[in-house]
Amino acid sequence: MGKRILGETMKLKAEQIQENWDKLIQIVEDTFEGERKELLLKMYSDFKDRGMFAPASSTDYFHNAWPGGYVCHILNIIDCSLKLYNIWKDSGAFTKDYGEEEVIFCAMHHDLGKLGDLTQDYYQPNDSEWHRINQGKMYKENQNLHYMTVTDRAVWILSQYGIKMSQIEYLALRLTDGMYEDGNVGYLKAYAENHQLKTNLPLILHQADMMATRIEKESYMFGGSSNIPYEEILTPEVKEEKEQKEKELLENVKEEFGAPTETETPTVSSSQTAKDLFNELFGDK
Ligand SMILES: [Fe+2]
Repeated sequence: MGKRILGETMKLKAEQIQENWDKLIQIVEDTFEGERKELLLKMYSDFKDRGMFAPASSTDYFHNAWPGGYVCHILNIIDCSLKLYNIWKDSGAFTKDYGEEEVIFCAMHHDLGKLGDLTQDYYQPNDSEWHRINQGKMYKENQNLHYMTVTDRAVWILSQYGIKMSQIEYLALRLTDGMYEDGNVGYLKAYAENHQLKTNLPLILHQADMMATRIEKESYMFGGSSNIPYEEILTPEVKEEKEQKEKELLENVKEEFGAPTETETPTVSSSQTAKDLFNELFGDK
């Protein structure tokens, strides 16, 4: 399945963006056959210029909110869903109703609607520097698009290219977002026996999406540019090590440049200085 992208650095170079796109197209070549393959290749060829640079989300602490993030997410979920498919199969789950092609088809297209419609992007770079810096909102939704869920748009795009899917593929692609999508509740919280899912592929896809998304989010959390020091919070020893290194660095600088040692440093605290200044200006003389 090629090299994993999970946990990779958050900003991709142009060559990596091209490389990931090529990997995606190679998976289409290797997985599908006949008319479906030809139609998929046509669709990806049409979307190439926009698709390869699309992010996977709008905000830096969601996941992959950078150019090329969408394709990375798709490669990751394909990787995770194939692994989970094998775990389910080896653990005794019923998997005779689908195979790797179905797993890959759903993983590959569950977020297709994030590419926008046939002519316009869904995510546009956020022109508000304040929102980018202060709230991590790197992209904004294109207001000109008709509103529809990402999944509905995915199915619509596939329909525009005449790309067919089985009922099981439709259900799995449709339910990949699990209960995060209100419209899925009726499928996943069913009580009547005839409303229960007859196939487990949607569950595998949802697990794979959660897994890929979480690991991508963690590359933001532990990548050195997060607003919250996750690594220090979750691993106090890292914090201690960092503080120790900073202390040693400071000692070295003092030694090197002959800065005053701690005992020579004036001991008046800033609050004391402020108090003196206040008394000087406004105190009773
Ligand atoms: Fe996803």
